Parts: sequence; C-alpha cells; structure tokens
Amino acid sequence: MKVIIGSEKEIAEKAAQQYVELLKRKPNAVLGGATGSTPIGLYKELARLNKEGVISFKDVKTFNLDEYVGLDGSHDQSYRYFMNENLFKHIDIDIKNTRVPDGINTAVAADYDKEIEAAGGVDLQVLGIGVDGHIGFDEPGTPLDSITHVVELEQNTREVNSRFFNSIDEVPTHAVTMGIKTIMHARSIILLAIGKSKAEIIKKTLQGPITTDVPASILQLHPDVTFYLDEEAASLL
Ligand code: PGA
Repeated sequence: MKVIIGSEKEIAEKAAQQYVELLKRKPNAVLGGATGSTPIGLYKELARLNKEGVISFKDVKTFNLDEYVGLDGSHDQSYRYFMNENLFKHIDIDIKNTRVPDGINTAVAADYDKEIEAAGGVDLQVLGIGVDGHIGFDEPGTPLDSITHVVELEQNTREVNSRFFNSIDEVPTHAVTMGIKTIMHARSIILLAIGKSKAEIIKKTLQGPITTDVPASILQLHPDVTFYLDEEAASLL
C-alpha cells in the first residue's frame, strides 16, 4: 500500500503518471472509471496528456464502477453522461469501448463481471471514497465476495449526492455497482481523496481494522493500491 500526499493538482498529476506508465507498457489496457467530484482533476490531466500526444486511448477499454438505477445515459446526472462530458469526449477513445453498468435493465448486472473478465480484467481502477467508506456504491455491510449488483443507497449518500440534483427527492434510491470482489480483482487500484470531509474515513480506511463496516478498508489487502490524498484528506493520519 502506497500513500502519496500533495496538493489537489499534484495528486492529479502524479496519479495520471500511473496511466502514462501503464499505457506505454500496455496500449490496450482496461481501465476502471469512477465518477464524483474527486476524479475530475485526474480526468483533466489525462485529457491534457492525450492532447499533447503523451498517451493514447485508441485501443483502451473502460468499465465504470456504477450507475444510478432509473437514469439512462441522456440524463445529465447519469454516470454515463458524466463520463462522456468529463473524459470520453476529450480523449481519442472509441466510445464503443466504454462501458457503464446499465441503470435501466438491471437484470443484466451480474453479466458485467463476465464482460470485464472477457476483456482481460481491469488493469487500473480509480476510486473515490464516500464519507461512510463506500467505494463504488458498495455501502457499509456489503459482502466481500460481492460482484456487480443492485444496491439501495444509504440516506446519507443520497443527501451528499443531492447537491447535483434539484432536490433529494430526485436522487435515485438505488444504484448498480461493481461489488467489492469485482473491485479487488483489478490488478492496480488508485484511490483519490480530497478535502477535510474525507479525513476521518481516510484514517479509518488506512489505519483502522479491515471491516465491512468500512468497505474501503478491504483495500489494505490489495497487493497494488496507491492512495493519492490532498493535505486535508491526509490530515488525521
Ligand atoms: P466525491 O464522491 O468524489 O463526489 O466526493 C466520492 C464517492 O462518493 O465515492
């Protein structure tokens, strides 16, 4: 487990270097995507590096962590829409090679793991973290052997995410998310955390016991995980 601390800009740049190294070695890598405010700086940096010709996503495949149930890709709060707007339309990726779990036909959720496997498995998965320790939408109590599945969102998660909607009533009650096992299968993992609101959960995740009460704490068992933290998120370590 590696921990890298710096300003928001520094950690985005350093995390992006992991993509540069991977794509030099494996131009057809499989990348695991995340949404939320945290990875936006990283995505901007990846778009810049792509524009400058340092990296190409021409042969890359992506699988995103999660999607709201009930929102299709045209909804501006869907995670498909987020990925198109914040990353895919700014890089040379073939949109056909990008996957986000299906928030409408949730019956196919478990097939997502098979698709990931058929693509060769995720080489590099980026994660944010919720204040309750969720990764993807795997809330506290999610079994460690879970694969992609439908979850009911915690009230607290809906409240935190309501900032992107007109009101909390519009925030979907369910989501489809990669499971803990799906996430842990990635060969390398990056977890980004920014801001004071994440300080306490980052301490529990890195220095507390490994427990399903703090889903991110399972990452302590992953052989290749790097935490990129700004000074505020790292302030209680
Ligand atoms: P955030 O969300 O990046 O918007 O803080 C992280 C998460 O809930 O996983």
